Amino acid sequence: MKSPVTILMLALASGIIAAPAVGPLSLGAVVDIPAVNTHPPRGTEPGAAPTLVNSATTGLTTHGPYSGTPTTTGAEQATATLEATIAAQPNPMATYYNTNGKLTQPQPMPYMPAGGVGTNGTLPVYMVQSDYDYESVALGVHQEYIELDLFHYGLELFSEQDFLEAGLTAEDRNLIEYMAVQEAGHATLLSNMLGETAPKQCTYDYPFKTVREFLDFNAKLTRWGESGNWGFLSHLDSKEVATLIVQAEAIEARQQAIFRQLLGLHPMPIWFAPGIPQSWHWTLLSQYISSCPENNTRVVWQNFPNLHVVNQPNVNRFIANTTNNWETVGNRTGDPSDSNIAENQSCVHQNTTGYNCGPAISRDRNDPVSFPGRQVNLTWDDPGRAVGPNNSYVTSTTARQPAFVAWLSQLNLTYTPLTVTGSNSGFTYQPANEVFETDPALNGTIFIALTDEAIDATPFNLTMINPHVRALGLYQSG
Ligand SMILES: *[C@@H]1O[C@H](CO)[C@@H](O)[C@H](O)[C@H]1NC(C)=O
Ligand SMILES: *[C@@H]1O[C@H](CO)[C@@H](O)[C@H](O)[C@H]1NC(C)=O
Ligand SMILES: *[C@@H]1O[C@H](CO)[C@@H](O)[C@H](O)[C@H]1NC(C)=O
Ligand SMILES: *[C@@H]1O[C@H](CO)[C@@H](O)[C@H](O)[C@H]1NC(C)=O
Ligand SMILES: *[C@@H]1O[C@H](CO)[C@@H](O)[C@H](O)[C@H]1NC(C)=O
Ligand SMILES: *[C@@H]1O[C@H](CO)[C@@H](O)[C@H](O)[C@H]1NC(C)=O
Ligand SMILES: *[C@@H]1O[C@H](CO)[C@@H](O)[C@H](O)[C@H]1NC(C)=O
Ligand SMILES: *[C@@H]1O[C@H](CO)[C@@H](O)[C@H](O)[C@H]1NC(C)=O
Ligand SMILES: *[C@@H]1O[C@H](CO)[C@@H](O)[C@H](O)[C@H]1NC(C)=O
Ligand SMILES: *[C@@H]1O[C@H](CO)[C@@H](O)[C@H](O)[C@H]1NC(C)=O
Ligand SMILES: *[C@@H]1O[C@H](CO)[C@@H](O)[C@H](O)[C@H]1NC(C)=O
Repeated sequence: MKSPVTILMLALASGIIAAPAVGPLSLGAVVDIPAVNTHPPRGTEPGAAPTLVNSATTGLTTHGPYSGTPTTTGAEQATATLEATIAAQPNPMATYYNTNGKLTQPQPMPYMPAGGVGTNGTLPVYMVQSDYDYESVALGVHQEYIELDLFHYGLELFSEQDFLEAGLTAEDRNLIEYMAVQEAGHATLLSNMLGETAPKQCTYDYPFKTVREFLDFNAKLTRWGESGNWGFLSHLDSKEVATLIVQAEAIEARQQAIFRQLLGLHPMPIWFAPGIPQSWHWTLLSQYISSCPENNTRVVWQNFPNLHVVNQPNVNRFIANTTNNWETVGNRTGDPSDSNIAENQSCVHQNTTGYNCGPAISRDRNDPVSFPGRQVNLTWDDPGRAVGPNNSYVTSTTARQPAFVAWLSQLNLTYTPLTVTGSNSGFTYQPANEVFETDPALNGTIFIALTDEAIDATPFNLTMINPHVRALGLYQSG
């Protein structure tokens, strides 16, 4: 990425206008204050901003499932794979421990302590530096493109009146439109750091049929988008790329909270946002990509079989305990809860504090949608299903018989034992653990995995759990 020193030439206006005397104001009154005429540099003017990637501005608008035969099948693979798993190994002990808060090394320059990466004057290079970087950022591009298309599409599909009935105004629609356009910028940034082989925009197949379901889906999709990026950022070889993506992620995280607010949920019922492995992100995301352009760059990541929550709590009910089995609009793991329920069971137009789930800056439910100890019934798919763009990826697992449910939320991975009740069904109970005292680990949209072993993994080595994942899903815990 080029970073020319931008010099904005301000066109000086001829006459500076004197501040007017302020009398009584009416709405729409014009009050001139001192100012110059100026405009952003464009086109060939010096300091002009880079263009957006083409497909970000001329996005595809067809939607629906893919019914053709793929021209290629399977994830991208290198010519060789070294091992089935990666063994843990000792870390050369970190030697820095500051006992008195005083600097231990000479300073490289005034007001700057020794240490850090990229702090010795080496010029930054804003490009991916390894296969790991390339594949991670390519996955990120897919996420940015689906968000760009999805946010636009919801506004096209549902009228202003539909939004009003869900408690949302034209100004809320403009906010969603603004978030869509942010994605054009994010897709451009990430694509530029990959080069010309960056994945292009695809076509998508969405599950929702109401405004509430659109918002519910967005809250889930932005959760895996945000968590997908947190999962790989610190592992990137290119700290320059990581720096720019963090700056996009800060915005994605706000989108996640905003969609929860539009859905009448607590905006951020967690103290820490979880990170997930790329293959978890790809498993959840790729189910909504119906096809990609010819020769689109393929990704290396794994597609796990789906883990279904039979009694997924429905956020549209004012007593979520009354949720029926299979009360989601479809069987893809990110599918929203059915919003088409009897008005006297819905929380949308309830006017009582603690029961209302209409849009709000914050909601505080009297009865949370789920709770520790809740029985959670599960079913799971077998591997070998064609999924993702053009149905050209295949679900797989290397896990043995499932025995645990892994709950990933905030900083913690928690296991509960799975009671198997059939060939692909079983149940467990929602755990009650806390991250730090008084912070229940599980809240918001939770990632759940069925595993054969209770592998110890922490935020920086979570990917090591993948060979033990039998199926992957989402749990709506608040
Ligand atoms: C996916 O489908 C699109 C549209 O039909 C087609 O152009 C593309 O070549 C297909 N890709 C694969 C891998 O089959
Ligand atoms: C400066 O730091 C980079 C890594 O951040 C390292 O590759 C390079 O060798 C360092 N240069 C010097 C002169 O120490
Ligand atoms: C999740 O957060 C909501 C909002 O703060 C709260 O009402 C609920 O009790 C929390 N759930 C758990 C399990 O802590
Ligand atoms: C796809 O790749 C084939 C083989 O390299 C090439 O002939 C074709 O022109 C490519 N299609 C596009 C749309 O780039
Ligand atoms: C939901 O069920 C749990 C467990 O039986 C119970 O403690 C809770 O009070 C119920 N909530 C409502 C609103 O019925
Ligand atoms: C999801 O799968 C279950 C079990 O096969 C089925 O009962 C349910 O109807 C399916 N839901 C939808 C919306 O297709
Ligand atoms: C909701 O309304 C339906 C019919 O309008 C009625 O049969 C049902 O008992 C009501 N449920 C509650 C919880 O009030
Ligand atoms: C909520 O208030 C509105 C406006 O006063 C009213 O039309 C609606 O019936 C109320 N809803 C409930 C569930 O009480
Ligand atoms: C979950 O499954 C168990 C055992 O099959 C069954 O007894 C229980 O009723 C189910 N719970 C729900 C909420 O469907
Ligand atoms: C949860 O994460 C915190 C912070 O990393 C850690 O201190 C704690 O031990 C973890 N708890 C469990 C049960 O893993
Ligand atoms: C992951 O790291 C933790 C230390 O934070 C370690 O205890 C655990 O064994 C590691 N897991 C694997 C699978 O390497």
